[in-house]
Amino acid sequence: MDLTIKPKTNLEGTVKVPGDKSISHRAVMLGSLAEGTTEIEGFLTGEDCLSTVQAFQDMGIEIEGVGNTNMKVHGQGLHGLEEPDNVLDLGNSGTTTRLMLGILAGQDFYSVATGDDSLRQRPMARVTDPVGDMGGKFFGRDNANLLPITTIGGQDLEACTYHSPVASAQVKSSVLLAGLYADGETTVVEPAKSRDHTERLLDYFGADVTVDGLTVSVKGEPQLKAKKVIVPSDISSAAFLMVAAAITPDSELVLENVGLNPTRAGVIEALEAMNVDLELLNEREVNGEPIADIKVKTSQLQSVVIEGDIIPLLIDEIPILAVAASQADGKTIIKDAEELRVKETDRIDAMVTELTRLGLEVTEREDGLEIAGPQEIKGGVTCSSYDDHRVAMSLAVAGLIADEPVEIEEAECINISFPGFKELLMDL
Ligand code: S3P
Repeated sequence: MDLTIKPKTNLEGTVKVPGDKSISHRAVMLGSLAEGTTEIEGFLTGEDCLSTVQAFQDMGIEIEGVGNTNMKVHGQGLHGLEEPDNVLDLGNSGTTTRLMLGILAGQDFYSVATGDDSLRQRPMARVTDPVGDMGGKFFGRDNANLLPITTIGGQDLEACTYHSPVASAQVKSSVLLAGLYADGETTVVEPAKSRDHTERLLDYFGADVTVDGLTVSVKGEPQLKAKKVIVPSDISSAAFLMVAAAITPDSELVLENVGLNPTRAGVIEALEAMNVDLELLNEREVNGEPIADIKVKTSQLQSVVIEGDIIPLLIDEIPILAVAASQADGKTIIKDAEELRVKETDRIDAMVTELTRLGLEVTEREDGLEIAGPQEIKGGVTCSSYDDHRVAMSLAVAGLIADEPVEIEEAECINISFPGFKELLMDL
């Protein structure tokens, strides 16, 4: 499906973007490993989270309400999963795969995980190495770096202390989830803080978790108990609309119920530093996660330097921040973001190529990009989404202020994380 975006002014209204992808995945995972029925409200019905649901169904978990935002997961306890009788197809979802490999290592059965063209090229050694050192047994191409990956269960896992070379919540979570099946306490030390939903939810489900700065530990063999999980709206999805409102003339949007976990809220800090007129309303807390409504108005943007420890706190928002930067006064520099090269696509290459196609001058860096603004966005072109949901939506937002319509190829990938994106834009 191609998506055509026409230039627009006056984006006005109050909207609720879909549920948080990271929390939705983890709610199904921990709900499956808990004893009892976990109710989930506000679940993201995007394709990535449905890959997680399918995988746990394939391992014998009964899940009611699949396809709806409200679901019930009938957990079978830490040792209640069953051997899947076919390959687990994890679609496009890196989060499902990396977290799942940690869980699979602790099972007493054989399993094979695979995924789509993009996922089969993404590095998995970052989890199979540390979990392998704990005793997990993985086989796959390039020393268990590339899917399909076979996990031979039935191993005794040993607790470890892992100093991760990368600030990645997927790596941290995979090791901690494997740690649930190890005797003793498993610890992960990160080089910078990454999103902490796994440790928050593990604690919420009754595991013994301690957090001390960049160090997170979990005790093995906890008894996880079913809970009700209310999933806030995804700040990563809200970011597209925040930037849309900021750069589109005469706009004012209120985004309701957005998750504002400090390990995810780097985009708020960055937009505020860019002088975006942004207000947090009605701040509150739901099952251990802070949330608020966010009001954003058309703004006169200023350039900013985004680097260092804030990068993991806004890693998924960098493509849309690059679009914002094109409208900011001065030179924006985004660096220390080499992780973008191993996302659903190489997002540095994709954004530099497509923003250039839209007539913008952008300089590629090995670890990010530089863009001086404000610049005019030229429409009348067809852009590639690289089959990457966040690239597609970033280009769609750029199209709102182009001088002519912009076409985006293979835009169906948006359903990975933001089903209803097109309809929501049309309503506005
Ligand atoms: C995620 C972690 C991040 C992020 C991804 C979701 C998660 O990846 O980019 O979209 O839910 O744990 P990394 O852990 O690879 O940085």
